[in-house]
Amino acid sequence: MPGDKSISHRAIMLSALAVGESRISGLLEGEDVLATAAAMRAMGASVERRAVDGGGAEWIVDGVGIGALLQPRVALDMGNSGTSTRLLMGLVASHPITATFIGDASLSKRPMRRVIDPLAQMGAEIGASPGDTLPLMLRGACPAVPITYRLPVASAQVKSAVLLAGLNTPGITTVIEPVPTRDHSERMLRGFGAELAVEVEADGTRIITIRGEAGFRPQVIEVPGDPSSAAFFITAALLVPGSELTIENVGLNPTRAGLIQVLRDMGGSIVETNPREVGGEPVADLVVRHSQLRGIEVDPAIAPSMIDEFPVLFVAAALAEGRTVTSGLEELRVKESDRLEVMAAALEAAGARVEEREDGLVIDGSGGEPLAGTGPGGAPVATHLDHRIAMSMAVAGLCSRSGVEVDDTRPIATSFPVFEALLDGLTG
Ligand code: S3P
Repeated sequence: MPGDKSISHRAIMLSALAVGESRISGLLEGEDVLATAAAMRAMGASVERRAVDGGGAEWIVDGVGIGALLQPRVALDMGNSGTSTRLLMGLVASHPITATFIGDASLSKRPMRRVIDPLAQMGAEIGASPGDTLPLMLRGACPAVPITYRLPVASAQVKSAVLLAGLNTPGITTVIEPVPTRDHSERMLRGFGAELAVEVEADGTRIITIRGEAGFRPQVIEVPGDPSSAAFFITAALLVPGSELTIENVGLNPTRAGLIQVLRDMGGSIVETNPREVGGEPVADLVVRHSQLRGIEVDPAIAPSMIDEFPVLFVAAALAEGRTVTSGLEELRVKESDRLEVMAAALEAAGARVEEREDGLVIDGSGGEPLAGTGPGGAPVATHLDHRIAMSMAVAGLCSRSGVEVDDTRPIATSFPVFEALLDGLTG
């Protein structure tokens, strides 16, 4: 599996804040991460790709130091990437610079109020487009004011934005996280030398504190494979009769591994082998065998640990035996697309039985019978600039009589440029 997108963003950002040269291997070279790299260059860091013997590449980042980001001379083009936008807004918020953030049609619809609120409390001035969207201009505060912020939505992006702003803020910045979300920022901030503490209360609430104005030491980072990319191949192998697939290098951070748990609860055969640690994160290879899945009621409490995996879980549910009920998924409506509405429409177009509710989908599975598909002659499904819709519906196509046509595969390059080549290699 190619490198984890979330970890790749953070590796570039934090390396750009260390004084001296960091080296990153396994970096995801998707468009979203390249948008982060371009932004850090625009703010003074040197970020270069170096090919290594035997294939692959190492990324060399020469950082400017915390507090020393430069005024970007052009607008920061975030493309399709919400993670780049929200995390970089956090970084800029406590530097004496002003940055304009722009993005594509999908990103320009996504809500930024969730980061504007805490960053404004820290002293940043933010002028957003109507509906609190991009394009927006952010003037950082220096010195920024340390805050204690309780997350109103379960969002690793918002948590990370506040922690990153806290890096150049005097004193202690605190984030209270009632529902745990992916913790890559916490792990990597510590790795670079930040004074960061996490206290877990009896009810599971996490209190994360970071002391500002630290000095970062450059690091050598190996990025583990992305479980959110592996999700498409795990699901495909479970659904396509006769499959047995070994997927190497899958990150298994517990804050990301919800899909594997849910698919096992549905009867999926997924075996972990060769467990190890890569870049401070648990990793294993997975052996996945075709299994007849059963529909289940998915506990909404598991949602944050598989928030990007619901589109492909809906495909699994469409082929399972019986009914799958999901709930508590309002956040899916503000991802790269409205993933409840778009997946309901796409799966129905492919012949699945789906009911869309306000906070989830209810899907009556085919019991393993292939879906009808959209072709020949049917309209392609609309992916709305959402990479995960395109890849999920490709998996649905594997499990259909006539195939599934999607209207636009280009967004796949934001997170998983080799997806089509890997899939061709397995099915061709
Ligand atoms: C991410 C956090 C999640 C996830 C996104 C990546 C991150 O977003 O959906 O793909 O890297 O922090 P939210 O924080 O909006 O849940």
